[in-house]
Amino acid sequence: MKRHLISAADLTRDDAVLILDTAEEMARVADRPIKKLPTLRGRTVVNLFFEDSTRTRISFEAAAKRLSADVINFSAKGSSVSKGESLKDTALTLEAMGADAVVIRHGASGAPYRLATSGWIDGAVVNAGDGTHEHPTQALLDAFTMRRRLVGAGADAGLGRDLDGRRITIVGDILHSRVARSNVHLLHTLGAHVTLVAPPTLVPVGVEQWPCEVSYSLDEVLPKSDAVMMLRVQRERMNAAYFPTEREYSRRYGLGGERMARMPEHAIVMHPGPMVRGMEITAEVADSDRCTAVEQVANGVSIRMAVLYLLLGGSEPATTLDRSAARPADSEENK
Ligand code: NCD
Repeated sequence: MKRHLISAADLTRDDAVLILDTAEEMARVADRPIKKLPTLRGRTVVNLFFEDSTRTRISFEAAAKRLSADVINFSAKGSSVSKGESLKDTALTLEAMGADAVVIRHGASGAPYRLATSGWIDGAVVNAGDGTHEHPTQALLDAFTMRRRLVGAGADAGLGRDLDGRRITIVGDILHSRVARSNVHLLHTLGAHVTLVAPPTLVPVGVEQWPCEVSYSLDEVLPKSDAVMMLRVQRERMNAAYFPTEREYSRRYGLGGERMARMPEHAIVMHPGPMVRGMEITAEVADSDRCTAVEQVANGVSIRMAVLYLLLGGSEPATTLDRSAARPADSEENK
C-alpha cells in the first residue's frame, strides 16, 4: 500500500484485494456486541469536508471511531475557510494539531493530491471525493458489495476472490461522476468488464482512453449485466442543459420495475446515494430486494476501517485473527 489513497487508478490488484480482504475482517467486528478495536488508539483522524456529504462523512467518522482513533470533524461551512482561508493555512492548522490522517472532500479535482504532495502535512491523505475526479473509497465499497453479492455470500467466501469476468453497467451522469471514474478503474483492475450508459451529452470527452465500453441503449445492456449501478444527475455541477426534460431522461435512462425485469435473475441494482427517486430510479426499484443501496452504506464503514488501518498501520492485529498479510507494519515496503 502507498502512503496516501488519492485515486483508485493508483491501486494495483494486490492493493485492492488486500483492502477488500481486510474489510471482510472488519465486517466481522461489526457483527460483535462490542464493535470497537483498539488498533488506532492515540491516533488522530481529521475529516476535512469542503463539500456537502451525508454518507461518506459519517462513514469515515464511524470507521475511525471503531478503530479507537480520535476524530476531528471539520466542515468548511462555519470555519475560517468561509472567511477566505486557503487550503494551505487550513492544512498547517491541522498539522499543528497532530493529524495522523486527513480525509478530504473538496469541490476542486486535485485538492487531495495537492495536500498529499505539498509537504504541508505529514499524515496520510485519503480522498473522500474531489470534484469530478475520483472517489476511491466509494469504488472500493462498491467492489466489496459486488464481491459479496456476486462471488459469494458470507465472509470467507469473498476472501481472496475478485470480480473476474463480471459485467458491470454504470448508468447516468458519467460526465460529473467521480464515482463512475473510480469504479471504472478499480473494476477493470479487478478483472470486471464495465459498460457506461448515458446520453451522449453526459459522456466525458476522452472516454475512449478509459478501460470500458460505452453504450447509449440501457435496454440492450441490461440483460447482459451482473450489476447495474445507477447514478444521480449532478445538477450542482451543471452549467447548461444536458438533456431536454427530466421525464425524457427518466424514460430513456431511468430504472423502473419493468426495466429491472430485463436483468438476469441474479443481477443486483446499486446506487452510491443520494438517490433521486422518480428520476434515475423508481421507488419500486430502490425499495426492492435487488437494490443494495443500504448494504453499500454499511459496507462503506468496513472499507474505510480497512483503509485507515492499512494506511496508519496499527500496532496490533486488525482482529483476533492474526493475518500478517494485512499488517502493513510487517511488509517489506514499510520497513
Ligand atoms: C456521490 C458523491 O458525492 O460523489 N455520493 C457519495 O459519495 N455516496 C455521488 C453523488 O453525489 O451523486
